[in-house]
Amino acid sequence: MEQNIESHLKENRLFKPARAFAKKARIGSFEEYRKLYRESIEKPERFWAREAKELAWQLPWKKVLEWKAPDAKWFVGGKLNVSENCLDRHLDGPRRNKAALIWEGEPGEKRIFTYQQLHRDVCRFANVLKRNKIKKGDRVIIYMPNVPEAAIAMLACARIGAIHSVVFGGFSAESIRGRIADCGATAVITADGGYRRGTIVPLKQNVDAALAGKTTVKRVIVFRRAGNEIHIEEGRDVWWHRELEYVGAKCDPVALESEHPLYILYTSGSTGKPKGILHTTGGYLVGSYVTTKYVFDLREEDVYWCTADVGWVTGHSYVIYGPLANGATTLMYEGAPNWPEPDRFWRIIEEYAVSILYTAPTAIRAFITWGDQWVKKHDLSSLRLLGSVGEPINPEAWMWYHDKIGGGRCPIVDTWWQTETGVIMITPLPGAIPTKPGSATLPFFGVDPAVVDAKGNEVPPNVGGKLIVRRPWPSMLRGIYGDQARYRKQYWSEYPGRYFTGDGARRDKDGYFWIVGRIDDVLNVAGHRLGTSEIESALVSHAKVGEAAAVGRPDELKGQGLVVFVTLKAGAKPTPRLKEELRAHVGKQIGAIAKPDEVRFAEALPKTRSGKIMRRLLKEIAAGKAVTGDTTTLEDFSVLAKLASPEE
Ligand code: PRX
Repeated sequence: MEQNIESHLKENRLFKPARAFAKKARIGSFEEYRKLYRESIEKPERFWAREAKELAWQLPWKKVLEWKAPDAKWFVGGKLNVSENCLDRHLDGPRRNKAALIWEGEPGEKRIFTYQQLHRDVCRFANVLKRNKIKKGDRVIIYMPNVPEAAIAMLACARIGAIHSVVFGGFSAESIRGRIADCGATAVITADGGYRRGTIVPLKQNVDAALAGKTTVKRVIVFRRAGNEIHIEEGRDVWWHRELEYVGAKCDPVALESEHPLYILYTSGSTGKPKGILHTTGGYLVGSYVTTKYVFDLREEDVYWCTADVGWVTGHSYVIYGPLANGATTLMYEGAPNWPEPDRFWRIIEEYAVSILYTAPTAIRAFITWGDQWVKKHDLSSLRLLGSVGEPINPEAWMWYHDKIGGGRCPIVDTWWQTETGVIMITPLPGAIPTKPGSATLPFFGVDPAVVDAKGNEVPPNVGGKLIVRRPWPSMLRGIYGDQARYRKQYWSEYPGRYFTGDGARRDKDGYFWIVGRIDDVLNVAGHRLGTSEIESALVSHAKVGEAAAVGRPDELKGQGLVVFVTLKAGAKPTPRLKEELRAHVGKQIGAIAKPDEVRFAEALPKTRSGKIMRRLLKEIAAGKAVTGDTTTLEDFSVLAKLASPEE
């Protein structure tokens, strides 16, 4: 990048941790955070060894870290098992009969598993895997709805050392086929169907299509979820429940090398073929355990709900591995947030007295557009902590989350991280770090991020640049499965020896990080580089706007013209006057340079299934072109058609 990203957003609000919260928290003051952070950077091996010792190791490690950039090995020589740490470890004391997993299906079924029950189910299913000749090191695709059996399948793979690769249940047959081919999977675990907004997603049918023709897959295990009719391929497909009839409940966890692969998770990024991000056993477990413990500051009595689907990294680290390694009660919900009505989340929080909620800005903005009346119907007083992940959270959405959901009393942890980082990297600690709406604040222990210019020099406060990480951390990706050259090029070539995140950011004078979005999304308007997130936040701060997306379109004079797509809140009318008002509003919030050239109203914005706005598609629409790029990750195809047709 020739020039630095300019940052214009002004945000001065500061929220200090409440005294009552801080008093009970593990890290209860800023000084304590600073002290531990310093140790984690100056003496990382001491810090990580102390944390790792809280877990169960079948064989102790000899060396905490072996680092030869870009290859890291953590807890070298140690042996352990992730499922043992998530389950067996809790069976000797009172946690044995504690709820490990609370589940609600979209149609309304409820199931609760104690640690003892979950352990038994995982052992039995691990025996099913063995019975079906699935061995240590084999790659297993898991393509399931957000049901407990998805977690059971993952933990069972971990128990025997098979490498799971979860494919989100919203992906197509083509996506499954590509992932199977890339990792050479020999088995698929799926369900007949899953529920989404009242209809049944035909998962097994998609698997059948993905396996047509030549394939490496020899076995498909089918969980009966929706009862829809499916085809069973003799000799290849077996029913989950039938297989259970043949196995016992005893299955010892296999002792695995710390660097044994735990899972592969495909992430598409904005361009190119999906990358199979590889995570391994010891470092990943330590990372998810430690971040869950400190960031959510879990208590024995908490009911913790991370709304992510298990198909995403957030579902891996913060629905399953992190909470269970901590012996927490984790809640899983199968379906859509607006089914049957837009208050489903609040209904669930009230019903189970959820105390910690971890969700995404895209969901929060949707709730804002649906209106506060849905929230007001429910008692949310059980909540004590809120979290956000996946995108920059616009300050206005932050304030709404804080006031309307958190009742003004819950700290918000805005957590920055990536599939590649495995766990949370930049985040407030709720009892220690004062928060500013829109900032992920400060680095977690052992994380050494910086904002740098094209040459790799750190930029001064409030100057934008690229976000890098300067030293290895336990849960970092170990590679791109089957393509180490791409791993080096993608993450380690821009600044040799240092990890490049692909994000743009700035640090303010207090050292707080403000993520301005993916570098690929940066706009260049008349020589000024503007991050999309700031323009979007300015729009969302207008009383009538629910969501916004900013993109560039070629402009002979300015290099790029600025086009914004805006979704209005329920009840607001899309008028030419409002367009002018919005242009002026952005001008006032950020400066004349950021005034959009064109404002377009949209009923909805095109998003990936994980809720990220697909600016790449909007860019094509803004330039008046037909959409040509890959749309396989799009959540709702009808959105595109509506956007492309001329309005008014
Ligand atoms: O651009 C950042 C954004 O999401 C990217 C990572 O996406 P993914 O691998 O799908 O993982 C999502 C769950 C961790 C990042 O490069 N991002 C994630 N969290 C934040 C964020 N941007 C700003 N603030 C966040 N809290």
